[in-house]
Amino acid sequence: MLITKIKQRFPTLKNNPALVYLDSAASSLTPQIVIDAMNEYYQKYRSNVHRGLYDISLKATEAYEGARVEIAKFINAEPNEIIFTAGTTHGLNLLAYTLAPRLTHRDNIVLTRMEHHANLVPWQQMAKHYGFEIRFIELDTTSYSLLPTSFNVIDANTKIVSFAHVSNVLGTIAPAKEIIKIARAQSRALTIIDAAQSIAHIPTDVKDLDCDFLVFSGHKMYGPTGIGVLYGKKVMLEEHLEPFFFGGDMVADVTYADAVWNDIPYKFEAGTPPIAGAIGLGAAVKFIQGIGWEGIIQHEQSLTNKLINQLTNNGVQIIGPKTSNDRTGVVSFVIPTVHPHDIGEIVNRAGVAIRVGHHCAIPLHKMLRLTGTARASLGVYNTEEDIDKLMEGIKNVIKIFEK
Ligand SMILES: Cc1ncc(COP(=O)(O)O)c(C=O)c1O
Repeated sequence: MLITKIKQRFPTLKNNPALVYLDSAASSLTPQIVIDAMNEYYQKYRSNVHRGLYDISLKATEAYEGARVEIAKFINAEPNEIIFTAGTTHGLNLLAYTLAPRLTHRDNIVLTRMEHHANLVPWQQMAKHYGFEIRFIELDTTSYSLLPTSFNVIDANTKIVSFAHVSNVLGTIAPAKEIIKIARAQSRALTIIDAAQSIAHIPTDVKDLDCDFLVFSGHKMYGPTGIGVLYGKKVMLEEHLEPFFFGGDMVADVTYADAVWNDIPYKFEAGTPPIAGAIGLGAAVKFIQGIGWEGIIQHEQSLTNKLINQLTNNGVQIIGPKTSNDRTGVVSFVIPTVHPHDIGEIVNRAGVAIRVGHHCAIPLHKMLRLTGTARASLGVYNTEEDIDKLMEGIKNVIKIFEK
């Protein structure tokens, strides 16, 4: 079907025909059109943006700003609400550093128990400095969904609610709209969505979600490494968020004593931006749109169901929701008597790439009393044969450790 043709568009898969790549949650592979878009920039019009009045610089600016427009449309935002960053971690740190100084010991912020370190550690560090409390929306450890009865941790003193749209360990989809509604109703808290694991797998509409900020990484959505996006509502970027990095391009005027900021989004993009990365990310968005959400969701849900069923039928324990409706295709699992590193090592011998360990979510693993998990995560290029190959490896693991 269509998807087998998609495999051909990824040079890493063409150059490694035996590779079964099941680690897209860590980083997805890059299709040829993304590489071509970046190569074209490097080979034909390599120059800086927003500075030169000569042809190739104007072309670079046009391509860079064109990518911003594509990305804005992709998440239903306005182009000036899109700030290019180095990735999700960069976006979350930028928000933590700029928003936390307004908080005091009377305030609290709310996260969930399933956050990646990138949406936990920056807030912990800020809390030490500014004295605010960090609260957590709890996880039902049977269904692996967020517990609605604990949404009441959001109260009148909550100033920020920041959460992963999809857990990078459990695959759980957070009820984002519901949480945001509660945050608005309780205290008009600022809302931040970490979309690192959702952006390539479920459609994102920032107007419908009504979040104040949303962050994601290019390398998890078939784009290049080193580029990401911080979306902010226009009113937030214009009136609430102060620039964090200072330098060239983010200023409208400068004296020896002070500076006046440029308009949004430029006041948040100091210095030469990641030009090739942004152009590549624009091409990645076109790649996703070219396949279409309906095809992506149908394909990934069907593979997720197959993966979960096969693992379960072989006595493997799934650490996450059991049906594809409540989750995406990032599937963590444990074989109780086998260390996850042994699983990873043995399936790698058959050319199957999965991730093992704590997946940058140590507190979540500790809470679940797990030292680590094995994690297979899907992308558009995966096929039923990939799942079969993984399962051959898993059966081999079970056989070896049964002895
Ligand atoms: C949910 C989530 N948040 C944040 C990150 C950090 O993303 P990056 O390493 O691209 O900054 C990841 C990466 O795995 C993630 O899965």
